[in-house]
Amino acid sequence: MNIAVLASGRGSNFQAIIDGIKDGRIKNSKIVVLITDNKEAKAVERAKANNIPVEFVDYREGREVAERRIKELLDRYKSDLVCLAGFMRIIKTKELLEGYRNKIINIHPALLPSFTGMHAQKKAFEHGVKVSGCTVHFVDESLDGGPIIDQACVYIGDCKSAEEVEERILKEEHKLYVKVVGMFAEGKFKIEGRRVIYQKAP
Ligand code: GRF
Repeated sequence: MNIAVLASGRGSNFQAIIDGIKDGRIKNSKIVVLITDNKEAKAVERAKANNIPVEFVDYREGREVAERRIKELLDRYKSDLVCLAGFMRIIKTKELLEGYRNKIINIHPALLPSFTGMHAQKKAFEHGVKVSGCTVHFVDESLDGGPIIDQACVYIGDCKSAEEVEERILKEEHKLYVKVVGMFAEGKFKIEGRRVIYQKAP
């Protein structure tokens, strides 16, 4: 399975996928490209350290142009699965969404449909929920609203700050993302309405 990763920043989820491939939790897979909108991203260093090609996409000419380039890159690298890992742009063009329908996945640091958008951990902390977590979902036209693939719960009732919540959830993100990517490599997900059903290859 050829995996393309899109990241804008720190890239700890990207690193988790790299590690998951190395230690065999994700089988028969290769990260074929890191696509970024930020040349300074820590994710770029991680890619270089692991001999993963890096492609920069410039958003200064607008979203349409940038997403056309992303689609071209995904095609060129023959991507089977596209993992958004802290990619700070919303994918909106029909060409990219339809071209990679049910192949683009994202990790969100809350139990969707609660706390969509930015700063989900802070929103959960301030709301006072005792349990939050993370969600891996398909990317569609909605904001963090695509069909849910898997979730992990994290108890945050005793956290003293939003940063503590963030830290606690991040650890689970790394495990959940590797688990889900590993499942893609060994089977397929079927979508019935909003429900995502897994079929492991015989
Ligand atoms: C993670 O919390 C992820 O859930 C969110 O953005 C953050 C990215 O962190 N979408 P990293 O770049 O993977 O370290």
